[in-house]
Amino acid sequence: MRKSSVFLVGGARPNFMKVGPIFKALARAPKFKTTIVHTGQHYDRELSYVFFEELGLPSPGVRLEVGSGSHAVQTARIMERFEGALFSEQPDLVIVVGDVNSSLACALAATKVVYPSGARPKLAHVEAGLRSFDRSMPEEINRLLTDAIGDFLFTTEESANANLAREGVPEDKIFFVGNVMIDSLLGQLSRADSSKIRERLGVTDGRYALLTLHRPSNLETATLLALMRTMEEIASRIPVIFPAHPRTVARLREFGLDDRCVWVAPDEEISAGRAFYMLPPLGYLDFLNLMRNAAFVLTDSGGIQEETTILGVPCLTLRENTERPVTLSHGTNVLVGSDPQRIHRGVEAALTRRPGPTRTPPLWDGKAAERIVKVLGDIFS
Ligand code: UD1
Repeated sequence: MRKSSVFLVGGARPNFMKVGPIFKALARAPKFKTTIVHTGQHYDRELSYVFFEELGLPSPGVRLEVGSGSHAVQTARIMERFEGALFSEQPDLVIVVGDVNSSLACALAATKVVYPSGARPKLAHVEAGLRSFDRSMPEEINRLLTDAIGDFLFTTEESANANLAREGVPEDKIFFVGNVMIDSLLGQLSRADSSKIRERLGVTDGRYALLTLHRPSNLETATLLALMRTMEEIASRIPVIFPAHPRTVARLREFGLDDRCVWVAPDEEISAGRAFYMLPPLGYLDFLNLMRNAAFVLTDSGGIQEETTILGVPCLTLRENTERPVTLSHGTNVLVGSDPQRIHRGVEAALTRRPGPTRTPPLWDGKAAERIVKVLGDIFS
């Protein structure tokens, strides 16, 4: 039997926990031969290779090593190098996940390439159809364009199916399969429970807040200053633990705001009193452990809104919109933007009220990757 060859693309931190379950499900299907492609959009160990180790993934078969750059430079560099890899390996199928620059760049290269035989690869997009309706977000542009050119669009929630239908995508391209990020979460929770991160930080269960912050709109001077002030105020009530993205750290240094936090080195022990603690980025298992046991989470990430929904941990999203509305209707998510009063009201509610009952969004059951591979298996049979 001729195996169908697959390029499975990851580039930035939030991609790798989506690539993990898809790779494993493809590996169980005898008809596919899969190569992981790492674009190198994220290259720091703690934003990238730590996830391969923790998720038990093999090293990428193709590394494009593009590094950082402006959006145009990064996208162009990925396209150029990915096209070279496509010509040399000639995969039958390219799978991209999520909405980072790597997803769009590889989708564009894949959809235009023609092999010397005249054949072209098919393109699948996992996590298709999500829309914030805010085109100032680079991710929204990446999502719209990737979906416009994909052959098979795998969706995580019903809003995505409706968005794609509204955009005129034919129904036979859309496959509602659930959420591969939740496959990873459910698969790794027991290992995450063994993490010693809380002992190391000296924090008590349910008595700390967890913060992540990296979106460009929140790193503009006035917004970042207001957010940092608000976090300091929150930290006077409950310890705030902040594993920071390298760009956020750079921005805080640039604005002279880095002295607002207590810096904690990777292996440093602290006894967390009420203070604002900044850490380097954490691995997946440590982060899941801290998230699962937090009083509440403050974030501008997309994936964390989904993870807190499943974990039942209150999530205050520091944005005005979400492309994941099922986390509002079924989960714990509340949009608080960057306005101090709204954030404080959210914190007050999280600290004083028991979270209401949450409902698991349809198909967020740990089997999304299996469903994707079943669909692909039927198509490539
Ligand atoms: C990217 C994604 C974003 C995702 C985030 C998760 C896009 C448009 N954005 O944003 O959706 O939520 O990843 O982290 O793709 N840098 C490092 N080390 C690295 C990589 C980057 O220090 O390993 C620094 C560099 O200064 C770089 C900056 O971070 O310029 C931004 O990196 P980039 O890949 O452009 O986007 P993110 O902000 O990480």
